[in-house]
Amino acid sequence: MSEARIEYSADKAEAYRQLAEEIASVVAGETSRTARYATTVSLLTSAFGDRFFWCGFYEVDPRKERELVVGPYQGTLGCLRIPFAKGVCGACATQRETIVVPDVHAFPGHIACDSRSASEIVAPVLDADGALIAVLDIDATEIAAFDAVDAEALERLMARVFAA
Ligand code: SME
Repeated sequence: MSEARIEYSADKAEAYRQLAEEIASVVAGETSRTARYATTVSLLTSAFGDRFFWCGFYEVDPRKERELVVGPYQGTLGCLRIPFAKGVCGACATQRETIVVPDVHAFPGHIACDSRSASEIVAPVLDADGALIAVLDIDATEIAAFDAVDAEALERLMARVFAA
């Protein structure tokens, strides 16, 4: 397994590239979306280290109108369901754009599943047809833990693993 540690890497973009290679090679040929979600979360969590206490997917529930339901994740207990109208995850699902929140306390409607949450990034996950299937949510205990490099790298990773 990779030793890439994104949080401590001098070249974060390169660390993400190595991680993307590793995830893509592990899930190559795998048809189960759950297996892809779970593998991605496991390897992202290992790469991120301790600062990021929650990493996981909220999937679009096909049986509900504009509602996300929690999927594979690692971390403390997460909310089970998030309507598109609520939280950072809901905003990401609505806008279909990555949202970087440097300070969750300043984000109207942020849902605090864990009081340690200080900053957050949520990226949309699209399938090969461009349909929204999930969002990837990562939560940090530090303010401003994520930047544009994380946003771009996670978008590329989602495209590679779920839309290829
Ligand atoms: N903070 C998210 C909710 C999910 S959890 O933090 C795991 C939000 O505002 O959508």
